[in-house]
Amino acid sequence: MNTSDSGASPVAGKTVLITGGTSGIGAATARLLLMRGHRVAVTGRDPGRLKTFLDEVGHPDRVLGLVADASDWDSTNTAVTSTVERFGSLDAAIANAGIASADHFRTGSDGVIDGGDPELWAPMVLTNVLGPALLAKAALPHLEQSRGRLVLIGSVAGIKNSPGNLYSATKWAVVGFAENLRLHATTRGIGVTVVNPGMIDTAFWHGQVPPIAMRPDSVAEAIGFALDQPAGVDLNTVTIRPIGQPV
Ligand SMILES: NC(=O)c1ccc[n+]([C@@H]2O[C@H](COP(=O)([O-])OP(=O)(O)OC[C@H]3O[C@@H](n4cnc5c(N)ncnc54)[C@H](OP(=O)(O)O)[C@@H]3O)[C@@H](O)[C@H]2O)c1
Repeated sequence: MNTSDSGASPVAGKTVLITGGTSGIGAATARLLLMRGHRVAVTGRDPGRLKTFLDEVGHPDRVLGLVADASDWDSTNTAVTSTVERFGSLDAAIANAGIASADHFRTGSDGVIDGGDPELWAPMVLTNVLGPALLAKAALPHLEQSRGRLVLIGSVAGIKNSPGNLYSATKWAVVGFAENLRLHATTRGIGVTVVNPGMIDTAFWHGQVPPIAMRPDSVAEAIGFALDQPAGVDLNTVTIRPIGQPV
């Protein structure tokens, strides 16, 4: 544990795996947890983006970068086992990797079902819906040993309907899966938290960030709060929006 960093958490020294940790919410969470003295493994599909993140974030003794596709079982399982091999245990796994296909940002009032491109939908559905299930399957045995926590990144789009929006439906699936998972995981001593961000200023928006969007650091703080819950306490749902968000 590195206690020389400022802002050290009272419960430092956990090992946390974050899928999609090279940008946006995942990267902000990785930075926060490293600053607090934790060990962090991050995944992403793009090796260049991963290298840029690792070069920038520092703490090479406590960070592990893994090229892995969250929608692929072998990649996900290997990411979990590599994290445990490198750091000795797993205390938390964060299913953060997620995308909205580009047609969600250019179809206007047609909505993605009428105006979108079905070729773009499969990677989104597999990453957003299958991905958290694959991570849970790979991580649960290790989290049972550590009495750890799974964090699923849902969305306000997963608790509010929007016309013809398939991304939103993938996030409804995440919110539903989080509760199904909680009912199972709690019998094994594992906590489950779903974090539902509102509009956050990240690359997710394909360059069309809403003016009211807030910085990803606030979502990272909410995730850190979930990870810092004392033994025996399960924090289940956090919804965090910028002030002024209309939905
Ligand atoms: N931004 C918002 O307003 C907002 C609101 C609510 C919920 N969310 C959710 O927050 C999560 C993080 O999104 P973000 O806003 O931080 O977006 P982002 O800045 O685009 O970051 C997405 C990260 O996920 C990685 N990724 C994407 N698909 C992946 C896959 N199949 N396997 C592994 N890594 C993958 C990306 O790297 P590579 O492309 O290199 O793989 C990147 O590191 C997502 O689940 C998103 O749905 C975002």
